[in-house]
Amino acid sequence: MKISSTVNVTSLVVILFLYSLLNSNTGAELNKTTTKVSRRKSFVAVVFTSNFTTYNTTRSRKGLCRWLKHLKHQARLCAKRKGLAELLLETKKLTINSCKQQFQFEQWNCSNTKKFFKKVYRETAFMYSLTTSAFMYLVARACAEGKLSNCKCASHGKSDNSSKWQWGGCGDNTKFAKTFTNKIFQLKRKGDTPRNILKYDSEIGMQVVMESEEKKCKCHGLSGSCTMKICWKRLRPFELIAQELKNRYHGAIQVDSDNNIHIPQKEDDNQKLVYLEKSPNFCPLTVGRRCKNTDNCATLCCGRGFSTSLEKVKETCNCRWSNESLYQISCQQCEKEETVYVCQ
Ligand SMILES: *[C@@H]1O[C@H](CO)[C@@H](O)[C@H](O)[C@H]1NC(C)=O
Ligand SMILES: *[C@@H]1O[C@H](CO)[C@@H](O)[C@H](O)[C@H]1NC(C)=O
Ligand SMILES: *[C@@H]1O[C@H](CO)[C@@H](O)[C@H](O)[C@H]1NC(C)=O
Ligand SMILES: *[C@@H]1O[C@H](CO)[C@@H](O)[C@H](O)[C@H]1NC(C)=O
Ligand SMILES: *[C@@H]1O[C@H](CO)[C@@H](O)[C@H](O)[C@H]1NC(C)=O
Ligand SMILES: *[C@@H]1O[C@H](CO)[C@@H](O)[C@H](O)[C@H]1NC(C)=O
Repeated sequence: MKISSTVNVTSLVVILFLYSLLNSNTGAELNKTTTKVSRRKSFVAVVFTSNFTTYNTTRSRKGLCRWLKHLKHQARLCAKRKGLAELLLETKKLTINSCKQQFQFEQWNCSNTKKFFKKVYRETAFMYSLTTSAFMYLVARACAEGKLSNCKCASHGKSDNSSKWQWGGCGDNTKFAKTFTNKIFQLKRKGDTPRNILKYDSEIGMQVVMESEEKKCKCHGLSGSCTMKICWKRLRPFELIAQELKNRYHGAIQVDSDNNIHIPQKEDDNQKLVYLEKSPNFCPLTVGRRCKNTDNCATLCCGRGFSTSLEKVKETCNCRWSNESLYQISCQQCEKEETVYVCQ
């Protein structure tokens, strides 16, 4: 990702061309107009701001989709495919939990999300990339586990018969997941729902999922001889994906408008999240927040200082076998002193 600082006519044409390739949009939409996001509700905004528990969801599929009722597109698809309603709900949970967990000790802690959907802030960029990646991740897994109809384990390439391993088993289906994510999030659709810049941030979410694929293998053969290895592709735990996206949040860059986005070459890794508006100052809101250690407190408390106290916490300790033949373990509860830091 590069930002063009001097926009001459040639580079503008190139940028517009590259940009239109990705989004299949016309140049007219790339004008800087307003930085406001379209009034239409986006799926990501609903994921973060709707209160699922207020909907009466009797265990029907339709009931499980009710939280999406203000969204035309996603609501229509939700009940159509077996397993999708549950998956969308799981996406909401995974997204919010990961966001809260990753940002526990950050100035913005993933609260007050509503106001970040009016314009495109750094936080908005992150929430779009996180939601997209969570959905794609869950779809890829669900296919492998047979929880989503009309998709199955990933098909894999031809095995190299000279090596000691072969493709096999049941892999996470990232290929299907990517196509399906494009469909649910309407990433290939022309127009501004969501805006192009947010589509770009969503694409980064998908890219980070693709990059988290790893090869898992299992040995076959007589008593652990491993004469034949069967391998399949698997996604790393979602926590690592969320962590990587948090890094991209910190490395995100501000652009003037959609037309300053330069679509990088494919091999150009480590693409940055982009946003339009400067975030508000979070410092007044961090009074009383817990921080992790002195380094973290310095930034989280914005230089106001912090208080340190010792708190007693209970933890399990001295575990041992109480009856080995029954695999029973007994433990004790020990008290431990823990340093607690709180922002002033
Ligand atoms: C947008 O850009 C096009 C040319 O790319 C121009 O003709 C049009 O007037 C612009 N619209 C606005 C609202 O600036
Ligand atoms: C969601 O709705 C339930 C029931 O109306 C309420 O108890 C809960 O506090 C709400 N949660 C949020 C985060 O608004
Ligand atoms: C939820 O809806 C079902 C049927 O639509 C109804 O029987 C039930 O009483 C409702 N529950 C609540 C808490 O409103
Ligand atoms: C590997 O497969 C190719 C094509 O099927 C075949 O020509 C080749 O002889 C095989 N090599 C070994 C070592 O089995
Ligand atoms: C998150 O931050 C807000 C203020 O910015 C604070 O009120 C809230 O308690 C924090 N939540 C957690 C879980 O620390
Ligand atoms: C452990 O459990 C087995 C099976 O119930 C019992 O026979 C044995 O006496 C137990 N041993 C101890 C040390 O409690």
